[in-house]
Amino acid sequence: MPKTWQTKLIHPDAHAPQGYRSLTTPVYRGSTTLFPSASLVDDHWDQDAGYTYGLYGTPTSLELAARICELERGTRTLLAPGGQAAISLVDLALLKSGDHVLLPASAYGPNRKLTSGLLSRFGVDATFYDPLVGAGIAALIRENTRLIWTESPGSVTMEIQDVPAIAAAAHARGVKVVLDNTWSAGVLFDAFEHGVDITVQALTKYVGGHSDLLLGSVTVREDDLYRALGSARQVLGCAVSPDDCSLALRGLQTLSVRLAAIERSALTIAQWLADRPEVERVLHPAFESCPGHEYWKRDFTGSSGVFSVVFKPGPTQKQVFAFADALELFEIGYSWAGVTSLIVTYALGRGPGRPAYEHRIARLSIGLESTEDLIADLSQALAKIRD
Ligand SMILES: Cc1ncc(COP(=O)(O)O)c(C=O)c1O
Repeated sequence: MPKTWQTKLIHPDAHAPQGYRSLTTPVYRGSTTLFPSASLVDDHWDQDAGYTYGLYGTPTSLELAARICELERGTRTLLAPGGQAAISLVDLALLKSGDHVLLPASAYGPNRKLTSGLLSRFGVDATFYDPLVGAGIAALIRENTRLIWTESPGSVTMEIQDVPAIAAAAHARGVKVVLDNTWSAGVLFDAFEHGVDITVQALTKYVGGHSDLLLGSVTVREDDLYRALGSARQVLGCAVSPDDCSLALRGLQTLSVRLAAIERSALTIAQWLADRPEVERVLHPAFESCPGHEYWKRDFTGSSGVFSVVFKPGPTQKQVFAFADALELFEIGYSWAGVTSLIVTYALGRGPGRPAYEHRIARLSIGLESTEDLIADLSQALAKIRD
């Protein structure tokens, strides 16, 4: 059929040669996916259905999902637009009105807020438990408990959980266990081997690795969980950007060398801080001073670069702020696991399962600057704690 130039803008006859091969996964952008015939069906979110709509997957996003799944040793991975979106996908897919959910008091703040706020409006009841409860979780499981969240180490206070003991107690009562496995980058803790049913990761952190994207993943082994999560993902419209997926795929290629360098540097800096007179304790999972260290030693194959430091009583919150403000290499900012070292100070509220560190705690994320320079930076800024 002859075409005008205007039509050729949309349906060209001219194309680049076929056969290009590259080391990188191409970025496939697209909402519409083409079908060979009119007998298409509009409900094919399942990866087995092939490509049916950009929301459910493109070769770029499904490549990333497959790669995360392989690393975490699951059978299916679904992507979400961020770590928190992955967390809410799990809750919205698996909980209903009248259900009860257990979360560690040390869980990532917005995770706790989701259940105590938005989900409580939909009739879901949440209990926050001491992250070190271990097998004692059995006493907290109710008839209507559907899900137990774990996060190990916990956010900011860094408690390592006895995940296998929690999983054993949960499974004895038919309850599923979900783990936020972001700190381990999905590779330093083998979640499924330790009894977890669902893992969540903020790919925003170590997988992305450069503070330039937001993505999340949910990985499972059971088909029933995949089906529940997949159909919820469809109706929630959890779209991910193929460009961000491409960056995450690039991040994966250097994950092992970044993690190794960051682990080394973080251990050196944590030890240096532990020896400082201003410091009460270092909350680094590889240190005995970190609550639950024995579970890290038993269950993890290494450590990443996020840890906290608790100052001895004495400095005011203003002095702790002055210390953070005085740092020249450590930037102040949320999120973590990029190449730039970060610090955030916290004022922890008191409550069950919450240690009484109050304003004396700061969380560090070690990046890829020289360890020596980072220590020199901390050394000069610590003067502000003493002033
Ligand atoms: C442990 C943990 N899980 C989940 C998230 C949420 O990830 P995102 O920022 O991609 O929503 C964060 C973010 O800081 C986190 O620290």
